[in-house]
Amino acid sequence: MFIQIKSYHLLILFMSILSSIPVLAADPHSVAIPDEAVVQKLYLKINVDFGKKIISGKAQWTIKKSKEAEAIHFDTKNLTIEKITIDEIENPWKFSWGKKDEILGDELIIPLKDNTSIVTIYYSTSPESPACQWLDQQQTAGKKLPFLFTQCQAILGRTLFPCQDSPGIRFTYEADVKVPIEMLALMSAENPTEKNNTGNYHFIMSNPIPSYLMALSVGDIKFQSIGERTGVYAEPSMLEKSAYEFADMQKMLEAAEKLYGPYRWGRYDVLVLPPSFPFGGMENPRLTFATPTILAGDRSLVSLVSHELAHSWSGNLVTNANWNDFWLNEGFTVYFERRITEALYGKDFADMEAYLGMEDLKETLKEFEKNQSATCLKLKLEGKDPDDGMNSIAYEKGYALILLIENTIGRDALDAFLRKYFNSHAFQTMNTEQFIDYIEKNLFINFPGAEEKINLNEWIYKPGLPTNCPTIVSSKFIEVDREYQKWTDGAAAISLRTANWATQQWINFIDKIPSVITFERLEELDKTFNLSKTGNAEIADAWFLQSLIHNYSPAYIYMEKFLIEVGRRKFLMPLYKEMMKTTNGKNLATKIYSQARPNYHFVARQSVDEILKWKN
Ligand code: BES
Ligand code: ZN
Repeated sequence: MFIQIKSYHLLILFMSILSSIPVLAADPHSVAIPDEAVVQKLYLKINVDFGKKIISGKAQWTIKKSKEAEAIHFDTKNLTIEKITIDEIENPWKFSWGKKDEILGDELIIPLKDNTSIVTIYYSTSPESPACQWLDQQQTAGKKLPFLFTQCQAILGRTLFPCQDSPGIRFTYEADVKVPIEMLALMSAENPTEKNNTGNYHFIMSNPIPSYLMALSVGDIKFQSIGERTGVYAEPSMLEKSAYEFADMQKMLEAAEKLYGPYRWGRYDVLVLPPSFPFGGMENPRLTFATPTILAGDRSLVSLVSHELAHSWSGNLVTNANWNDFWLNEGFTVYFERRITEALYGKDFADMEAYLGMEDLKETLKEFEKNQSATCLKLKLEGKDPDDGMNSIAYEKGYALILLIENTIGRDALDAFLRKYFNSHAFQTMNTEQFIDYIEKNLFINFPGAEEKINLNEWIYKPGLPTNCPTIVSSKFIEVDREYQKWTDGAAAISLRTANWATQQWINFIDKIPSVITFERLEELDKTFNLSKTGNAEIADAWFLQSLIHNYSPAYIYMEKFLIEVGRRKFLMPLYKEMMKTTNGKNLATKIYSQARPNYHFVARQSVDEILKWKN
């Protein structure tokens, strides 16, 4: 049989060998065809209009195209395209719309000339663009000025700027951002440390990043240095508290480098956002975005910073090829996070978090009993919103697998392997199959029998938790067990030895509360330990869940306040889900949500709408 090989096939093959970029499997969540035409560099010039809640300006892309490519394809959603130009020509250039999809958005197709290397898209966002949350002054700590933050992971980048919105496509960027004069603008780039009197800010990100790591925040923001390469940004009234909480950031950075090699991004700062931020943290390069709910006052929740910092290696440096490989980003990051925690605060502390993580995982496995395929590490998110894959499977099952590898071959060998893995794939993309191949050739080859013992195949492609999953033991929780036993045997709450308990121990205690218990005993706990009124969001969340389960209504007014103020999805979902189990609960959920919904970010709304079957 005669097989015709077209010249551009050879060209693509040749190009990919030359640039050592593997020809990527298509990303089901992007319309980009990088083998034909791919972005390399962005110059973004935008104006941030708080009155209209719109960002507008131009995205000027430097692109690389194959000889035959006739067009470049961009992901967009909720964007208005005003004009497009190519190269240095000022006259408007033609473009067309391709596929339209409720989840993926609108495909923008721009025809190219043979030698086109620059495509400039004049555009504006809409006030509903999900990547942007526009807060009015009431929703900030200072209550004086409005605030904007963006969240691009997983596929919201396309609602902020026209881009090839696939984690497998990287670009460097520069940006000129104009904001109201009283405000400071920050990006996932080199950042200013104070306001100027023009409202114009220039940004440079000289490492290539994927679009989901693009980020912008604008508001009344101040900076405080922590260490040589670390610092914190926050609203002025939150700054001191934030700097206290994150005092160990510089040490975290140094511990991380000691583990897996040099930090490649220059500075590492954290921006503490208003409470409606829908996540715990987001690893925007050079500038992690974080929820204020980790400001417990006692530094007990700072593992979140270790986590986002760890993404500077696993995720930002070596990036999941598409969202089906999400576990490569998060599983490694959780493992790395716990190693940083262990280096700074000891194994006992890290073990508590690993134990709680395993409890979460077991919960999730139960939830997915009827949807087993969602519990594989490698996901199948084609046709679905990649947000559906954001649960503890990628995080905690991923973590458990890496812990099993550590237990099987030893820590030193694993560390050496990971150092090499991050280094040799820096600024590249990784998919599950490439990873399996790499670990087989670079690690298992030196440990005969290890591969059979671990059984990657079962862990990655089969549902549930394999029987060789490591057991996690926490000595600190043995203390909790003892006190819990005393209490359930009838001892008064006041007699329990809880004086030096960490947040994690309280969570463990509260999670244990049995399904049959009297109102009086819950009231006793509440009064003794002030649980309903705690300022610690993790403890509050665990306690409110138990309060709902046991119909302990004195906690509800505090829960209501919490749910109206805090928009962190991880806290919201279990509480609303629990409320939806009873008629009274449903009424309560409706009452709270109708007040809280305007405060929540798009992704939190989307999740809670689904739980409540909310129709707007
Ligand atoms: N990258 C994630 C957040 C994310 C994942 C946003 C998927 C959108 C889609 C971030 O690193 C993360 O994992 N955050 C966790 C905290 C962490 C300590 C487990 C969170 O927000 O809860
Ligand atoms: Zn993460």
